[in-house]
Amino acid sequence: MRRINVLLMIAFVVICLLSGVAAAQQGPKKDQALKAEKKILIVYLSRTNNTKAIADIIHKKVGGKLVSLELQTPYPADYHTTVQQVVRENETGYLPPLKTVIDKPDQYDAIFVGFPTWDMKLPPPMKSFLHQYSFRGKTIIPFNSNGGYGPGNTFQTVRELCPQSTVLQGFSTRGGLERDGQLLAIKDARAEEVRTEVNKWLRTIGMLK
Ligand SMILES: Cc1cc2nc3c(=O)[nH]c(=O)nc-3n(C[C@H](O)[C@H](O)[C@H](O)COP(=O)(O)O)c2cc1C
Repeated sequence: MRRINVLLMIAFVVICLLSGVAAAQQGPKKDQALKAEKKILIVYLSRTNNTKAIADIIHKKVGGKLVSLELQTPYPADYHTTVQQVVRENETGYLPPLKTVIDKPDQYDAIFVGFPTWDMKLPPPMKSFLHQYSFRGKTIIPFNSNGGYGPGNTFQTVRELCPQSTVLQGFSTRGGLERDGQLLAIKDARAEEVRTEVNKWLRTIGMLK
């Protein structure tokens, strides 16, 4: 009788150990499945690196592929000449050709799109990007930096250009003001502030647990 009890005890311990091993093996698989849940692309346009700073913060938090949007013919270095060119492009609806090519865009589920406010509007290169790629059925997540006048109608334009996508609530914060010689402002203590704002926003829109 005592021998049977001992054997039963041993069998019980062996079963517990085996189920523990099985659970440990399942753990990483579950994590991998979570990570594979959403494939993320982060595309940003940035002239003086403020929007890039936000893109970097988002990238560190959610991972995915980070892509800087480049033009076939870059804008002039001079601020005022650039403003005039942008105003003209907005008036005529000109879409500047992009140098950046997205490899297999269909592989992504969620696309973050980052841009500065230009002329209180969505910059023409970002319009080119959203015209060029169809993100039908995908989730689009806009983010913006501006010179203190806000995002203007940029988020509305993103929604109009992606009628078959789910466009989530955008993020907007103050960046630099090139007009007044203030280029990269999202650095040092300001970068820390923006990091906190971005974390809060990512949680609100369900992109961060
Ligand atoms: C051509 C041009 C037009 C701009 N127009 C506006 C504007 O209408 N409103 C605003 O708040 N900031 C405006 N800005 C300032 C930028 O939005 C701001 O500096 C932003 O942080 C720049 O982002 P970046 O460093 O990623 O290029 C403009 C900047 C440029 C170059």
